Formats: sequence, structure tokens, C-alpha cells
Amino acid sequence: MRYKVAVLPGDGIGPEVTAQATRVLAAAGRRFGYDFSFQEGLIGGAAYDATGHPLPEDTLSLCRESDAVLLGAVGGPRWDHLPVHLRPEAGALLPLRKALNVYANLRPARVFPALAGASTLKPEIVRGLDILVVRELTGGLYFGDKRREDIPGGQRVVETLVYTTEEIRRVARRAFELARKRRKKLTSVDKANVLESSRLWREVVTFCAGDYPDVMVNHMLVDNCAMQLVRNPKQFDVLLTENLFGDILSDQAAQLTGSLGMLPSASLGDGVGLYEPIHGSAPDIAGRQIANPIAAILSGALMLRYSFGLEEAAAAVEEAVTAVLDEGYRTPDIMEPGKTEVSTGEMGRLIAERVERNG
Ligand code: NAD
Ligand code: IPM
Ligand code: MN
Repeated sequence: MRYKVAVLPGDGIGPEVTAQATRVLAAAGRRFGYDFSFQEGLIGGAAYDATGHPLPEDTLSLCRESDAVLLGAVGGPRWDHLPVHLRPEAGALLPLRKALNVYANLRPARVFPALAGASTLKPEIVRGLDILVVRELTGGLYFGDKRREDIPGGQRVVETLVYTTEEIRRVARRAFELARKRRKKLTSVDKANVLESSRLWREVVTFCAGDYPDVMVNHMLVDNCAMQLVRNPKQFDVLLTENLFGDILSDQAAQLTGSLGMLPSASLGDGVGLYEPIHGSAPDIAGRQIANPIAAILSGALMLRYSFGLEEAAAAVEEAVTAVLDEGYRTPDIMEPGKTEVSTGEMGRLIAERVERNG
């Protein structure tokens, strides 16, 4: 079987981490007898520099014609001055998510056994943690109309937060389906005490819950949720939330696992899936081969699972990550005394070798 994967390395550490993710996918292909063809496309600042636009038409058609998309990260200070439609984030990443209609963004935060001490939280708070943030990805404040106008004494900005019943329903149903295959607990996060959009969110989630009587549902206000995530994160199984809250809470959840460099994501709709680490282009460490490639590698595992249905291969990648961490190899972001520090490329090689050897 041959799978066509569009690879969009992007900016900063994006190319460094996607190189390791494709290396591990290729190793999984050799081990399990699948053939992956990787085709690179330009996105973000790299695409702007080469073509004058952060999301060239060629890239979009490559993604649409592929079986799945692997993305690194986009953005950086070099492109922050550009008009908004040419910026890597608003001009490329968000339009790509919208074009692929990947409305459900799965961000699993798991604490690997070897990393319980790597978190900034006490080991007993995070050991064994396994939560799944399901973030709505194609609506909300990110995509509403916005404008800025001059008024006497300054300016006035308007940002609009739009959700329809159907947009909430489809992501909620995904989250319920996923909760059903896990510990059957879903916490819907909102700000229903203030926002009308959150009141509709809560109503729709409550209505959907009727179809999933086996899943226990609770609703939590986002400010409390942020606090509960660091107080007692193991109370959560699936966290369902709108776009902006999910962005913020998932970075916070990532740190529970030891590093932002550990958290993968799968963005799913009804067609091609998009897979990317949740972190950004990390300009502060880019180009030095010190970034943690595990988030990107685990995003590859999610691609195997959700786009290709290759559960055995996906599990083999996750087991290889577990094994390499158990053996004491660490990139600097998760380094602890007595462990062996390795580069981005070495970490990728160790995981790829494991996948190919052990399957
Ligand atoms: P960031 O996620 O790039 O970095 C935050 C911190 O985490 C930095 O100190 C960085 O060094 C560290 N970090 C991130 N990934 C790491 C990894 N794999 N290994 C080790 N350390 C890692 O967030 P930022 O600094 O706020 O944003 C930088 C740029 O990235 C901005 O232009 C932003 O818009 C963009 N961004 C893009 C995406 C994306 O493409 N999906 C996501 C987030 C931010
Ligand atoms: C993420 C990023 C993006 C987001 C930015 C770069 C637009 O932070 O993927 O989490 O907010 O969705
Ligand atoms: Mn983010």
C-alpha cells in the first residue's frame, strides 16, 4: 500500500522536526510493509520569501491531492511586520486549516513514565496523566470579521466570535466518540457566565450528550479549568473546548508532560487530515538541532492511526518513543541529571531504529 504525504516544514524548527517525523514514518513503512511518498510544499515565511505568498496555490493543491498532511510550524519575527493576509499564521496556517475543513483538533497530553520527573509540577500530580484536548479549530474568534478604525483619541477594534449550532455539534460529537473509546468522561470548557457563544456551546453539548449516555459529562468555566489543570490534572479525560480556549489550555497541558516539544496533534474533518506538533517555530532555538522532535514524531503516529487506520504501526512509533525515553535519551528541553543529552537528529534516529527493529 502506498500513501502520499504532503510535508510542509515551514519556519524555524519546523524543518528540523519534520525531517525526524518523516524519518520515523519511513522506518515504520519499512517495518510494516507500507510505502510512504513524501512530497514537500512551501508554507509560512519560507513560502513568502520564495514566492511572495505564505500559502502558494501549489501547496494547497498538493495538500488536497495527498492522503494526509504533515506540518512543522510557521512564523517568526522576520515576518511579523507583514500585512495580516501575508503573515505566516493568518495568511497560511489558518487558511490551510479552513481549506481542509479540519474542524476537530485532537491534542493528546500523555506523561511518558520516564518523564514524570521532567515536569515542573510534582511527579505525583502528573505521573500516569493521559488527557485529550479536543479543540474546535475552524471557528470562533480566529475566523470572525475583524476591523480597526480611527476614533477621536485613538482607535477602535472589533473582533467577532461566531459559532453555529452545527459547528459546535460536529466537534462535540467527535469528542464524545473519542471519550467513548477512553475513560468515558468529557469535560466541556466554556465561559458561559459571560459569553453568549459559550451559552450556545453548553446547550449544544448538553443536547449531544443525550446520544452518549455511557459518557459522563460535566461543564467547567475556562478560568477554573486553567487552575484545575495544574491543581489536579488527572481528574480530566477528554477536554472539549472552542478554538481560543483550546489553544491556551493545550500549551498548558503540554507543560504537564514535561515540554511543549512533546505534544502532537491531529486535525480532522471529513477529508484529508492535518498533523502538526502543537508548538511553534521556536525562533529562540531554531537552526541548532536542539529542538525536541517527539511532538512531530508523535504527530506522525497520529497520522498512521487516524488517516490510514494503521493502529499497529502507530502503536509501534509510540512504543519506540517510550523505549528511547526509558533508555535515558533526552533533548535539552526534557534533560534531567544522569540522562544522556542528544540532538534533534539523534533523537529521531534512535526512535526510527527502534521502530524498525522492534515494530
Ligand atoms: P513556540 O511554541 O514556538 O515556543 C515557545 C517556547 O517553547 C520557546 O521557548 C521554544 O524554544 C520552546 N519550544 C517550542 N517547541 C519546542 C521543541 N520542539 N523543543 C524544545 N523547545 C520547544 O511559541 P512562540 O515562541 O510563542 O512563537 C514563535 C512563533 O511560532 C510565532 O511566530 C508564532 O506565531 C508561531 N507559532 C506557530 C505555530 C504553528 O505553526 N502551529 C504554533 C505556535 C506558534
Ligand atoms: C497553534 C498555534 C496557532 C493557533 C497560531 C500560530 C495561529 O498557536 O497551532 O496552537 O493559535 O492555532
Ligand atoms: Mn498554540
